[in-house]
Amino acid sequence: MPIRINEQEKSFCIETENTMYQMKADEYGVLKHIWYGEHTGCDMEYLLDYPDVGFSGNIYDAGNKRNYSLDTMPLEYSASGIGDFRLSAISAVHSDGSNALDLRYQGYFTKKGKYSIMGLPCVYADEDTAETLEILLKDITSNITVILKYGVLDKLDIITRSAVIMNSWKYPVTLKKAFSICLDFPQGNLEWVHFHGRHAMERIVERAPLIHGIAESSSERGASSHQQNPSVLLCDKNCTEENGSCFGAVLIYSGSFQTKIECDQLDQVRMVMGINPKSFSWILKEGEKFYTPEVILSYSGKGMQVLSHNFHRVIRNNVCRGKYKLAERSVLINNWEATYYDFDDKKLLSIAKDAARLGVDMLVIDDGWFGKRNDDRSGLGDWFVNENKIKEGLCSLVEKVRSLGLKCGIWFEPEMVSEDSILYREHPDWAIKIPNRKPMRSRFQLVLDLTRQDVRDYIYNSVSRILKCADISYVKWDMNRSICDWYSAELSPERQGEMPHRYILGLYELLEKLTSDFPDVLFEGCSGGGGRFDAGMLYYCPQIWCSDNTDAYERTKIQYGTSFFYPISSMGTHVSAVPNHQTGRTIPLESRAVVAMAGSFGYELDPSTLSQQETLDVRNQIRRYKKYRTLIHNGFYYRLSNPIDDNYAVWSFVSSDRTQVLVQGMIFHTKANVLRTPIKLRGLSPDKKYILESSGQVYTGKALMEGGILLPRSWGDYYPVEMYFTAFL
Ligand code: DGJ
Repeated sequence: MPIRINEQEKSFCIETENTMYQMKADEYGVLKHIWYGEHTGCDMEYLLDYPDVGFSGNIYDAGNKRNYSLDTMPLEYSASGIGDFRLSAISAVHSDGSNALDLRYQGYFTKKGKYSIMGLPCVYADEDTAETLEILLKDITSNITVILKYGVLDKLDIITRSAVIMNSWKYPVTLKKAFSICLDFPQGNLEWVHFHGRHAMERIVERAPLIHGIAESSSERGASSHQQNPSVLLCDKNCTEENGSCFGAVLIYSGSFQTKIECDQLDQVRMVMGINPKSFSWILKEGEKFYTPEVILSYSGKGMQVLSHNFHRVIRNNVCRGKYKLAERSVLINNWEATYYDFDDKKLLSIAKDAARLGVDMLVIDDGWFGKRNDDRSGLGDWFVNENKIKEGLCSLVEKVRSLGLKCGIWFEPEMVSEDSILYREHPDWAIKIPNRKPMRSRFQLVLDLTRQDVRDYIYNSVSRILKCADISYVKWDMNRSICDWYSAELSPERQGEMPHRYILGLYELLEKLTSDFPDVLFEGCSGGGGRFDAGMLYYCPQIWCSDNTDAYERTKIQYGTSFFYPISSMGTHVSAVPNHQTGRTIPLESRAVVAMAGSFGYELDPSTLSQQETLDVRNQIRRYKKYRTLIHNGFYYRLSNPIDDNYAVWSFVSSDRTQVLVQGMIFHTKANVLRTPIKLRGLSPDKKYILESSGQVYTGKALMEGGILLPRSWGDYYPVEMYFTAFL
């Protein structure tokens, strides 16, 4: 039983294979957080200290106990307004204008299996692999209750958390903040690692000490964003890939989010994570509930690589869904960087013909096949084929592509509308804008109001009509701007603050319907590359275009950051032409390929421009990718260097039986007269012997892990690395 409860003491202990999570309701019914970390087999309450701290007040019922303060003790879900002056998890304004909740323990409930969350993506698991604990807290004055939900996937060292807020009395209450978790680390002394960036440079790792005060990583863009990612890692100061304690948290949400971490007056650390309160409020009338998105938590006492493995496993197996989640993904060719908007069916067919000869499995027709879409100023929303470009119609084109042995995929940007479109001319009110104000344009487009049923129906019908009429195997679901001007004619003035979250609920409803009605179609998420690379989108789309930056050098950094939480199979990674369209950099074709192989692989170039030698090279790359694909997607991934600091990016994939090892990467800048660099491999069987395919040389696992393997002697910049080992007894 992963959930142990002592009813008399009102204490709760969640146990996973290697971790332990403890909390306890005390004599006042305050739910204290006791411990999350290593499985010690011990009640860790002895570590809590209760100093009498000036200006940290005491709850009334504590009487003379000057050292009993909500402001200093670790709490499981702290509410604002009643004397805990640190970050709070929930803030609610009552009908009399007061803002306070005093949440006390009422009871608990457990069940086999994992809870689900109405309208929101979350971890799923069957009854044999998960358990649920619910703890009920109630405000001592009003009838507002909070159910804290814990999902336990004990074999995976995963605990999920979410909260449900319920109003059971006759007065409405307005939630100003409803985080998914509040997590206290009374022992403090932590660093945080977060993932920042910008368009075409997403999820760059940044590690920093926590200083007194509040650190924040968040988005207010209506999407999880390029700029910050809804994932965070807290670790001890000496934590490395292989050693030390670290905690990871991933929010399963695609909208505006906030992660805040406070180091308080006593050096304790508190983290809150969930929907961004800056663009949120929610009215709960009598009988209504509010569901927060879920956070996935894991702890590793053995460094960050184990933490990453835990997240890769749970996101791949228990968040991603559908028939493609574990399937070998097709090698695709996408025409975007090959043609941009300038294509017709002849050009697409010629790309498909060349690609078929290379061993590519699928042609993806990107932006520009619909409406009057010849640049980014028009056409979004008009999801019917542009017959000036696709002259014989989409069905006939798809059939021709199919007859070449390729499947066909297609691009949509369903959430958007161009002002120059039939849709906008007919339904200007469907675009998000505030009455009497000009909306912000971004890429000349406006956003459709997905909180509206008629808008969602229109999008569903437009997309499904195309998927029904042509034999389409893949959809790239793009979204190319940040959202502001929040206002919906469907919502009353006092409910406008609900719109950003309602937008995401509308998006999820739409994706749920489309993905379940078209189970054979692989949906790939995209938002100007990786602007919505989050676990919420991965619930519907098992892969996401990692970045619009296809420069292999910069991609090593982007993919490195993405790998901390998200599985390798979830990253869309393509080889593009040189000079690269985003940076002008020229990188050898082989190096571009090894970098793109660390993901769901494809090409984004015009194959007719390849020389004879390059054509042979690409064929060879596709053959190799198909050979390694299962290992890349199912194996354990190891970051063997830090490409932000090192002069090389090297990583490896090790099969779960440790008999296959693929080391890939790139040496950035070649230097004269230097020794070759040894790279220590990880995750091998020390006593097994491994043969390096390219040379036939044999090494023991111990040698490769303790001594390492020399990187190749490089010649020229951006030199590729690839070594494939197999074990024998
Ligand atoms: C942004 C995407 O990330 C690109 O790959 C491409 O699909 C363009 N949008 C098309 O507009």
